[in-house]
Amino acid sequence: MHVENLTLAYGADAPVVSGLTLEVPAGQLTAVVGPNGSGKSTLLRGMSRLVTPQSGQVLLDGKDIHKLPARELARQLGVLPQGPVTPEGITAAELVSRGRHPHRGLFARLTAEDDAAISEALAAVELTELRERPVDQLSGGQRQRVWIAMVLAQGTPHLLLDEPTTYLDLAHAVDVMNVVHAAAVSGRTVVAVLHDLTLAAQYADHLVVMGDGQIAAEGRPVDVLTEELLDEVFGLRATVVEVGGAPVVVPERRLAV
Ligand SMILES: Nc1ncnc2c1ncn2[C@@H]1O[C@H](COP(=O)(O)OP(=O)(O)O)[C@@H](O)[C@H]1O
Ligand SMILES: [Mg+2]
Repeated sequence: MHVENLTLAYGADAPVVSGLTLEVPAGQLTAVVGPNGSGKSTLLRGMSRLVTPQSGQVLLDGKDIHKLPARELARQLGVLPQGPVTPEGITAAELVSRGRHPHRGLFARLTAEDDAAISEALAAVELTELRERPVDQLSGGQRQRVWIAMVLAQGTPHLLLDEPTTYLDLAHAVDVMNVVHAAAVSGRTVVAVLHDLTLAAQYADHLVVMGDGQIAAEGRPVDVLTEELLDEVFGLRATVVEVGGAPVVVPERRLAV
């Protein structure tokens, strides 16, 4: 995917993303981090056609996504929005089956290929045993994994995930990141907005730091996530140490006197 000079705004408000250009590395995991309100979700919406650009383009295999038919786009690009709302009473397998819509005719029944994709996606997030369970009876981590399975079942070569690990404890966040990473290892191009800088740095091949609607820095996590950058972009005083080649952010404690 390529984002060219993209400017995004809501209505007549000032642009939230301005003149942003980004080459998303194919077949890799790109993590987008940045302070609250810096425009990460808006960027992902612009990249998935949920927000129409004021100017600029998003290219998928060289084609402007705003010129692709909706069904064609849905076969190319899977999107997990921030904080999706689970339909009441739906089972895990039913929710995952919704990912197959772009491949099916209107009212058509699930084909053997659909069934295989659904089972494979549920297996990838280790929820095969819970497939008939209502999603609203699952834990937060399991629910998040069902949503990811839905996007995986869509079988798209490109994935955009907005905060797939939010509200999860670290162990469950790691489970989810392992699945997201595996998608990239299997050749898909993945862009994930992540909250946790250390987790993002552990998993990302390419790290994009957004500050105020623009890219403040991008590159390998170890090159990008510096103490200066954290101070500049996040207003955070922290020590950065390296563990296993990836930066770990240790925020400075500030005690009231
Ligand atoms: N639907 C919307 N309508 C109007 N303004 C919005 C909308 N969504 C987000 N914004 C504004 O855009 C800015 C960036 O928001 P967002 O992209 O959600 O940031 P992030 O995901 O980095 O926290 C914020 O100032 C927010 O108030
Ligand atoms: Mg957001």
